[in-house]
Amino acid sequence: MAAPKVYKNFINGEWVEARCGKTFENSNPADRRDVIGVFQASDKCDVEDAIAAAHEAYRSWRLVPAPKRAEFLYRAAQMLVERKEELARDMTREMGKILKETRGDVQEAIDMGFYMAGEGRRLFGHTVPSELPNKFAMSVRMPLGVCGIITPWNFPMAIPSWKIFPALVCGNTVVFKPASDTPLSGWNFVKILNETGLPKGVLNFVTGSGGAVGVPIMKHKDVSVISFTGSTEVGRMVSEACAPDFRHCSLEMGGKNMIIVMDDADLELAVDGALWGGFGTTGQRCTAASRVAVHKEVYKEFTEKFVRRAKNLKVGNGLDPTVEMGPCINEGQRNTVDSYVQVGKEEGARLLCGGQPLTDGDWEHGSFYQPTIFGDCDPKMRVAQEEIFGPVVSVIPFDTFEEAVEINNGVIYGLSSALYTRDVNRAFAAMRDLYTGIVYINAPTIGAEIQLPFGGTKHTGNGHRDAGQAALDVFSEWKSLYVDFSGTLQRAQIDTNA
Ligand code: UN1
Repeated sequence: MAAPKVYKNFINGEWVEARCGKTFENSNPADRRDVIGVFQASDKCDVEDAIAAAHEAYRSWRLVPAPKRAEFLYRAAQMLVERKEELARDMTREMGKILKETRGDVQEAIDMGFYMAGEGRRLFGHTVPSELPNKFAMSVRMPLGVCGIITPWNFPMAIPSWKIFPALVCGNTVVFKPASDTPLSGWNFVKILNETGLPKGVLNFVTGSGGAVGVPIMKHKDVSVISFTGSTEVGRMVSEACAPDFRHCSLEMGGKNMIIVMDDADLELAVDGALWGGFGTTGQRCTAASRVAVHKEVYKEFTEKFVRRAKNLKVGNGLDPTVEMGPCINEGQRNTVDSYVQVGKEEGARLLCGGQPLTDGDWEHGSFYQPTIFGDCDPKMRVAQEEIFGPVVSVIPFDTFEEAVEINNGVIYGLSSALYTRDVNRAFAAMRDLYTGIVYINAPTIGAEIQLPFGGTKHTGNGHRDAGQAALDVFSEWKSLYVDFSGTLQRAQIDTNA
């Protein structure tokens, strides 16, 4: 077998090795013998170089007109279109989710590229009347400087695109650290952006561990904003690192999302949704439907159908087009999933299907786990409260709509929720009362589109949002401008009879 390819960091327009000379291997979670590449195990020195380059490049990049900055995004989005299939294949190989989903991941980056490129000719501010005569008042968005972008492995291209595209169009420069489990998709994304002719230093890419690369990025005084998606635990570290000097951070963290199935729901549709929401991406989405609350009237029927369908899901290598669910991202994650299954059993949840790692035959060298459903869960059980990030769904029976809303809101997270009903009044009550950043009616908890804000309440976020217009608020600051052309001293709030 040929030696695996060595992938380098990208700093100040050059592909470079980590200064310390260390590297790490990236392997396929469906078959760990398949080594995808060797990546740089960078440290603080490389981070310093990348931040210095981004800091310097910011001086001129912020002055490039936004419609011109946007042209790089248009070109990148077009190249993503042309290379979608090979990018998706690389992503399935390194991350494990099935090809249909990795194509969707690249598509999300394409959509975000074109959407944010359009912002180059918008980036709207406000023009408002002044209270004084012969005076002009308006607001504009200004960039912040160097953005530190730290992303997870579950959406290895989509999530970097949610952050890097708006950061660049707003006039910032970027230091990007991808997850250690999915550096190739990050590398592919950066390579494409470099091919657009982006000026050197505007986008920098440093691979390595969270401790050796992520922490120095979040602590660096020349990084004006950190945009992070990942665990609540690490998000707290980012928040604390930024707090002493009031540097901005936008955090998108855990979830314990829930589908509510009412007694008047279309049950087939609800089962389709629960299956896709719970086991799509092997349950490894922040938005995964890891809880399903079902009205007692339809509990038995729903659960039987749901379990039957889950048992039939084909688990395997995501490159096989007949496979419906891929592996867990790595052994550590599979062990976490398995330990939660033990917790569920000990708590008295009823194991309805799954509950075992898959280790024979074609599964031998991967991190596969059976689609797992617990029934009769109490909302306070750990399996119904904590984020598992794997193919485990807890089904919770309930009596009334009000009770279901309470169960939904009774966790520390608040990313996404869903209601299946045919009652329009209930649907609107749910849209008002489900305390999550995203609410779906008659659709599962996953599948957010890029033109609306993405993020959540409580321990899921810190009030900011990725995607949509809201992303611009992360990567820019408001500046209010007043132009007095009266030629006299006019005093706001004081010259009230003017
Ligand atoms: C995530 O789970 O971290 O809404 C991102 C969705 C996808 C993005 C999920 N568009 O499910």
